[in-house]
Amino acid sequence: MLTGRTIVVTGAGQGIGCGIACAVAEAGGRVVATDLDLAAAEDTMRRVEELGGSGTVHAVDVTDHTAVSQVIDDTVKTVGQLDGWVNNAGVLRMGPALEDGSEAEDWAAQFDVNARAVLTCSRLAARQMVAQGSGGAIVNVASNAGKVGYPNMAVYNASKAAVISLTRSLAAEWAEHGINCNAVCPGGVDTPMLSQVAGWIGEREGVDPAELLPLMRPAQLGRHIQPIEVGRVVAFLLSESATIIRGQSINVDGGDTPY
Ligand SMILES: NC(=O)c1ccc[n+]([C@@H]2O[C@H](COP(=O)([O-])OP(=O)(O)OC[C@H]3O[C@@H](n4cnc5c(N)ncnc54)[C@H](O)[C@@H]3O)[C@@H](O)[C@H]2O)c1
Repeated sequence: MLTGRTIVVTGAGQGIGCGIACAVAEAGGRVVATDLDLAAAEDTMRRVEELGGSGTVHAVDVTDHTAVSQVIDDTVKTVGQLDGWVNNAGVLRMGPALEDGSEAEDWAAQFDVNARAVLTCSRLAARQMVAQGSGGAIVNVASNAGKVGYPNMAVYNASKAAVISLTRSLAAEWAEHGINCNAVCPGGVDTPMLSQVAGWIGEREGVDPAELLPLMRPAQLGRHIQPIEVGRVVAFLLSESATIIRGQSINVDGGDTPY
């Protein structure tokens, strides 16, 4: 499905990003695993190699355009081409909308990584794809939070709604270059970020987070989603099989979100 294709994954050091890297390898693609945390990206690459895959690792902060440009240049120098880009890196800061908290700082931190970097990374990747003349695919990891509007994460929800909108815009604007752009909207995926949410609610409400985590399972599925399951949908969206799907934000949340 992705044989001979080189795919960059941001935030690949753990959680969904690691699952995406593994799914790309399963599908025969070459993985460029990037993360703030180089050691974590190296761990992911070991899992990719166990699956018979290969690739490179890079320490990249998605908000650092120089570092993002560098990874694109290095990839093109190593394998000659960039075929796909996955904007997975994301951050979540919990906070009730009624409380002042550190709103300006929280807004900047979440929108910088979750939304602005999605645009700038996509732009840098797309420029390379346009220069190559062979098109490519971009997949954004949004969230069902961008549709549902979960309590105590208004800014995060808004940043993910921005990703859903950006996905539509980029698909429309770059169609003439043969570049596709879609998003997935996960929910209830078994990752450190989900534990962070349970930890925050638990501390505020005086409940053991271990009791809360099982309640955060997608109801129809009756279990948490595993990162590789999200990864396999992303791998499909990166492939030629998804050519007729454009600008969509597809729920991968076990049926929690019906729209
Ligand atoms: N876990 C869920 O249920 C869930 C649901 C919906 C959406 N998401 C989204 O999926 C994506 C991955 O989430 P996760 O649950 O795996 O999170 P996670 O916190 O477990 O992992 C996030 C990874 O991104 C990296 N990262 C953070 N900021 C970065 C930056 N500036 N530059 C590069 N890397 C950075 C971290 O180092 C980490 O490896 C995020 O965009 C998140 O918003 C997760």
